[in-house]
Amino acid sequence: MEAHLSLLLLLCCFAAASYAHNVHLSTLNQSLIVSTTTTPGQVLKAGVDQVTITWAYNETFPGTDTNYTTVEAKVCYAPVSQTGRDDRKTDDNLDNDKTCPFDITDAPYKRSNNSFIWTVPRDTPTATYFVRLYVINAKNHEIAYGQSTDALKTTSLFQVDGVVSDQKVSAASPVFDVFGYGFAWLLVLFTVYL
Ligand SMILES: *[C@@H]1O[C@H](CO)[C@@H](O)[C@H](O)[C@H]1NC(C)=O
Ligand SMILES: *[C@@H]1O[C@H](CO)[C@@H](O)[C@H](O)[C@H]1NC(C)=O
Ligand SMILES: *[C@@H]1O[C@H](CO)[C@@H](O)[C@H](O)[C@H]1NC(C)=O
Ligand SMILES: *[C@@H]1O[C@H](CO)[C@@H](O)[C@H](O)[C@H]1NC(C)=O
Repeated sequence: MEAHLSLLLLLCCFAAASYAHNVHLSTLNQSLIVSTTTTPGQVLKAGVDQVTITWAYNETFPGTDTNYTTVEAKVCYAPVSQTGRDDRKTDDNLDNDKTCPFDITDAPYKRSNNSFIWTVPRDTPTATYFVRLYVINAKNHEIAYGQSTDALKTTSLFQVDGVVSDQKVSAASPVFDVFGYGFAWLLVLFTVYL
């Protein structure tokens, strides 16, 4: 029991040290232009197909990218795959947002000429998706973003033919949603230790 408590505390402290809280998407500057090589109506096969994601700073955006350090690319559920699913719900507060549960990659920020070839992981649920990139500053705060779809999240979406989506499967891994896959090794370590 105590061991479990200290595990939780440890995870909480790690999380608190790593991420800013109460960051709202609507307060972030949408200064990145993001696109994917998917074609309208394309259905990608999980574990097989690849998508090239490209991004760059929007040169006509009236701001500056001086504090941009890192980008985090994520795969996000389109509205059509969120209906009736509280476990995929969009919330403007990023602490509570469940739109983008899958990490693609983290990379140092570069103003232009960025691309990443993403192989759709075998365990991706069957759903409709888009890609979003968050820009992180040196203090690990999200300060800007960009996405491969429009504001209403209706254009340039892609479908994945993956694992059969199941409420129980997604409910089993909330800890990964909250703390990120980076902590998975820690959990494994503690599971072995306990
Ligand atoms: C780039 O930024 C300008 C100014 O904010 C905006 O009008 C334009 O739509 C943006 N371009 C893209 C592709 O997002
Ligand atoms: C967001 O953009 C505005 C201009 O639209 C700029 O004044 C501000 O500094 C930017 N904020 C960040 C955190 O880059
Ligand atoms: C960049 O970060 C510095 C230090 O935190 C801050 O003073 C400055 O306002 C930031 N610039 C922008 C454009 O956000
Ligand atoms: C973009 O990246 C490619 C491949 O890494 C490189 O060959 C090319 O010179 C780069 N272009 C610019 C403008 O940086």
